[in-house]
Amino acid sequence: MRLSLRFVLPLMLVLAAIAYAVAPMVDRLTLTWFVRDLDSRASLVANTVQEPLQELLTAGRRVKILEFFNRITRDERLFAVGYCAAPTAKALATRSLPPEIQCAELARWEGPNNHLLPSNQGPLHVTVLPIAGEAASPGRLVLVQDMSFITRRSEETKRYVFYLFMGLAAVVSLITVVVAQLSWRGWVAGMRSLLRGEGLLRRPGSSAAPTLPGFKPIARDLQRLIRDLESDAHARDEAQIAWSPESLRAILRSELRGEDVLVVSNREPYIHQRRGDRIEVQRPASGVVTALEPIMRACSGTWIAHGSGSADREVVDRHDRVAVPPENPAYNIRRVWLTPEEEAGYYFGFANEGLWPLCHIAHVRPTFRSGDWAYYVAVNRKFARAVVDESKTKDPIVLVQDYHFALLPNMIHEELPNATVITFWHIPWPNPESFAICPWRDEVLEGMLGSSILGFHTQSHCNNFVDTVDRFLEARVDRAAFTVSLGGKLTAVRRYPISIAWPPNPEIVQTSVADCRSSMRQLNDLPPDHKVGVGVDRLDYTKGILERFSAIERLLELKPEWVGRFSFIQVAAPTRTGIEEYEHHEAQVRAMATRINARYTRRGPPPILLKIEHHDPREVYEYFRAADLCFVSSLHDGMNLVAKEFVAARDDERGVLILSQFTGAARELPEALIVNPYDADQCAAALHLALTMPAEQQRDRMRLMRGLVAEYNVFRWAGRMLLDAAAMRRRSRLIEKTARTDT
Ligand code: G6P
Repeated sequence: MRLSLRFVLPLMLVLAAIAYAVAPMVDRLTLTWFVRDLDSRASLVANTVQEPLQELLTAGRRVKILEFFNRITRDERLFAVGYCAAPTAKALATRSLPPEIQCAELARWEGPNNHLLPSNQGPLHVTVLPIAGEAASPGRLVLVQDMSFITRRSEETKRYVFYLFMGLAAVVSLITVVVAQLSWRGWVAGMRSLLRGEGLLRRPGSSAAPTLPGFKPIARDLQRLIRDLESDAHARDEAQIAWSPESLRAILRSELRGEDVLVVSNREPYIHQRRGDRIEVQRPASGVVTALEPIMRACSGTWIAHGSGSADREVVDRHDRVAVPPENPAYNIRRVWLTPEEEAGYYFGFANEGLWPLCHIAHVRPTFRSGDWAYYVAVNRKFARAVVDESKTKDPIVLVQDYHFALLPNMIHEELPNATVITFWHIPWPNPESFAICPWRDEVLEGMLGSSILGFHTQSHCNNFVDTVDRFLEARVDRAAFTVSLGGKLTAVRRYPISIAWPPNPEIVQTSVADCRSSMRQLNDLPPDHKVGVGVDRLDYTKGILERFSAIERLLELKPEWVGRFSFIQVAAPTRTGIEEYEHHEAQVRAMATRINARYTRRGPPPILLKIEHHDPREVYEYFRAADLCFVSSLHDGMNLVAKEFVAARDDERGVLILSQFTGAARELPEALIVNPYDADQCAAALHLALTMPAEQQRDRMRLMRGLVAEYNVFRWAGRMLLDAAAMRRRSRLIEKTARTDT
C-alpha cells in the first residue's frame, strides 16, 4: 500500500501539471472553432434576413424594421442587430447595440480577425455584412452575437481536460501498481519454486507453463548454486545417517515416495530348487542381495532375474511372478526364462568367457564369438521387455546389476526415455588398450551410456571407463563433473564402493570365537594351538588361489619352523562349471594343493586343507572367527567382500587380514597387510608377519578396519546411489520445466 501511494501521488502531480499546461492550448483551439462557427452563423442570418429587410427598407418602414430586428434578437445568442444605410447615417438598431459600434466606424469590424468586442456582459462577436437597400450604395447589416457561452464552455472544457488527466493518472497508476505487484509476486514465487527445486516462475496454484524468460540467466546460476549446495548437503546428510535397512527404507520413503523401483540382475535373490518331492528355497550368499533387498521391501518393487532354479517355474503365477520373501512377502521376483542356447551364449559365453576375463586382466584370454554376442544382445532385449512390462510408470528407477547387462541401459532408455537407470558394474573396468580388443566395444559402451548413473567400486575404474569412452566414442566427456554425454543423453560416472551389512546378522556370529577356534580345529584334526589361515572364494581364476598356495609354499621354504604348526583352509565354492577355463583352474588348484601337501605332510597336519564345496554364511563366519589370519590374494577384483566379511566377523578384534593390492577393498582397508599376489616372497613375509603379530597390533588394525566397514556399510552404498538418483530426478524435472519456459 505504501509503495502504491509513494508511486501514485507523484504521478498524479505530474499529470495535473501537464493538464494545467495543456488547458490554455485547448481553450485557444476551441475559441478559434467557435469564432469560425459564429462567422458562418452570421452569414446565415444575413442571408435569411436580407430579403425581408430589403423589402422593409424599400418600403421605408423604419418602425417595422426595428420590430423585425427586435424579433430576431429574441434568439438568445443574437445580442443586437443594426443597419447603417451610410457611414454618415445613424444606425437603425436594437437598443442592445453597443455604443462603440458607430456607422462611421464600421470598417474596424470588417477585417478577418477583428470580430471581438469586449463588454460588461462578456465578449461579443461583431459581423458587418453588406445589404442592398433603397440607396445606390449598399448599406451595412451589423450582427452582434453573444460569446459568453464560449467562456462558459471554455471553463467547462478546462474542467473536463483536468478531470481527464486526473482519471488518466489514476488508471495509469493502477495498471502500473498491479503489474508491479504481479511481477514482484511472480518473481518471488519463481525464486521460491526454484529454491524448492520445482521450476521457474510457475505462479502459485497454477499448472500453466512459466512465461518470464527474462529470468533465464538467473535461473541457470541458481540451478548451479542449488546443485553445489545439494551435493554439500548430501555429503553432510549421508555422514550423519546411521545406515541400516530401516534408515534406508525411511530415506526411500521420504526421497523417492511412491516411485516405481525395479532391480535387474542375472542371479535371483530367491531360488526355488526341487529336492525330491519338496521345494527348497535357496538364498544366494550375495552382497548384492543383502544391499538391494531393503530397497525392494521399502518400495514393494519388482526384481527381474533369470529363473535358474529347478522348481522356479512351478511357483510363479501366469505373469512369471512370485512374491518373496516366502515367509513374509513384500515384493515380487519376475522371472525371465532362458533357453539352454541363450544361457550358453549370453551367460557362459559373452558374459563369462568374454567380458569377465576382459575386465579382470587375470591373464586369461577373453574369448569372443559372434554367436555368443547375438545371444547376449537377444537376452538383454528380453530383459528390456520385462522391464517395460513390469514398469508401472513411464519414469521408473531401474537398478541394473553388472556385466551381464551392458546393453540393457540403452535399451531401457529407448523404450522409457524418462526412466532413471542406475547401472552398477560390480567388476573392474580395464584401461582403454585392454578394452579395445572387444570386437563390440562401441556397442557395449553405447549400451552402458543409456544409464543415468553408472557406478564402479573405485575411482580408477571410473577413470578407466571415461578414458575408454573418450578414446573410442564421439562423446562429450566432462572430467570436472565426471559426466559423459552421448547423443544428448547424460551419464554421471560415480564411485560407490560396495560393502556388507553392518552390524552382521547376530545369527552368524552367535558362536563364541573360542568355540569356533576349538571346534574348527577338532573338525579338521588340528591340534588346539595350531595356527590357521583361511581363504574363502568362488573357485575363480581371478581370485589368485594358485598364487596364495605359492606364497604358503614359499613361507614353509623360508620359515620351516611353520611346517606342521600352520595350515591354510581354503574354502572354494564351485562356480561357472561348464566353462573350460574354470574346469582347468579347478584341476590346477587341486593338483597344487596335493603337491604342496605331499611335500610337507611328513611333519604334522597338511599345510593346505582344500574344501571345494558350498558353505552357508554361518559356516563361513565360523571359519573366519576360528582363524588367525585371512588371505585375500585376488589378481584383480572390483571390491572383494570376503575381506570386509572377515573384519565384520572379528568382534574379538583379533586376526590379521592379508589383502591383495589389486582389490577395491585395499583402497578402503589400508590397515590390512597389503600385498602383491604375484610376489610370492612378499606374500610369504606377510604370512609370517601375520602369524607373529602381537595381539595389541592386531587389535589396533582390526579396530580401524571395523570402524570403516561399520561406517560405510552396504545400506549406505545403496542409499547413496538412490539419493543421487532422487537428486538427478529433481534436477531433470526442474530442467524440463525451465525448458518449457524457453519455448
Ligand atoms: C561376481 C559377479 C556377480 C555374480 C557373482 C557370482 O561377484 O560380479 O554378478 O553374480 O560373481 O557369479 P555367478 O556367475 O555364479 O552369478
